[in-house]
Amino acid sequence: MLDRHEFLEKRGLVLTVAILIVVAIGGIVEIAPLFYLESTIEKVKGVRPYTPLELAGRNIYVREGCYVCHSQMVRPLRDEVERYGHYSLAAESMYDHPFQWGSKRSGPDLARVGGKYSDAWHKQHLIDPRSVVPESIMPPYAFLEGKVMEAEDAEGWLKANRAVGVPYTDEMIENAASDFSTQTDPFADDYDGFVARYPNAVVRDFDGDPRHVTEMDALIAYLQVLGTMVDFETYEPEENYR
Ligand code: HEC
Repeated sequence: MLDRHEFLEKRGLVLTVAILIVVAIGGIVEIAPLFYLESTIEKVKGVRPYTPLELAGRNIYVREGCYVCHSQMVRPLRDEVERYGHYSLAAESMYDHPFQWGSKRSGPDLARVGGKYSDAWHKQHLIDPRSVVPESIMPPYAFLEGKVMEAEDAEGWLKANRAVGVPYTDEMIENAASDFSTQTDPFADDYDGFVARYPNAVVRDFDGDPRHVTEMDALIAYLQVLGTMVDFETYEPEENYR
């Protein structure tokens, strides 16, 4: 046995290949089943794909690199749960491509920020963070307010997400442009259709300027939905997850 080991140890290349094979076996045993197990992500009531406006806000969040300072994952530890609320469930980021768990917290975790502040607070905070939190080191994003968005682009965002597995229906894609604008206007013609497609979506003018749908509207709509899809008053983990 030792002789054979000597053979390996004296030949760098053979040893490298042998190590790779052993590590690969370990990796396959751990990772491969996750692709086939039906229960890798527990299905949770309330989790739905983002509306076109929320998705637009999410794109802006990624574009502006908010994830560099903010995580979106409440870990199941007591200090986290007491500060932010219920720990994050896998299902809550199942429609996130790419996911926004993040790895750094220069600012607080945002996984449950939805509903914590008013839209006006978010707007003021994004325009000038230090006007509401004097000691803040967050950069200002005032330009979002003046950036009017094109509803026609919405169809493309939905299609791109469908291509990577988000279950947007043909109906959702067909109505993407109108749903995009409808979410900022409670009196829009297709209000009922929109709410049927995206249950529990919040419909209101997010940035206080009803004339246009701006990047500010989109980003606030996204922040306000974070962590609000699952109702934790009634949520019960499945048997295997308790
Ligand atoms: C340089 C780091 C940094 C970047 C980049 C950054 N933030 Fe922040 N953010 C902070 C810090 C620090 C705080 C805490 C102080 C405060 O409230 O301003 C904060 C607070 C917040 C809060 C309030 C959270 C709470 O629970 O009180 C929100 C919402 C927020 N940021 C959103 C964003 C968004 C959206 C972006 C991207 C457009 C962003 N941040 C980019 C550092 C950052």
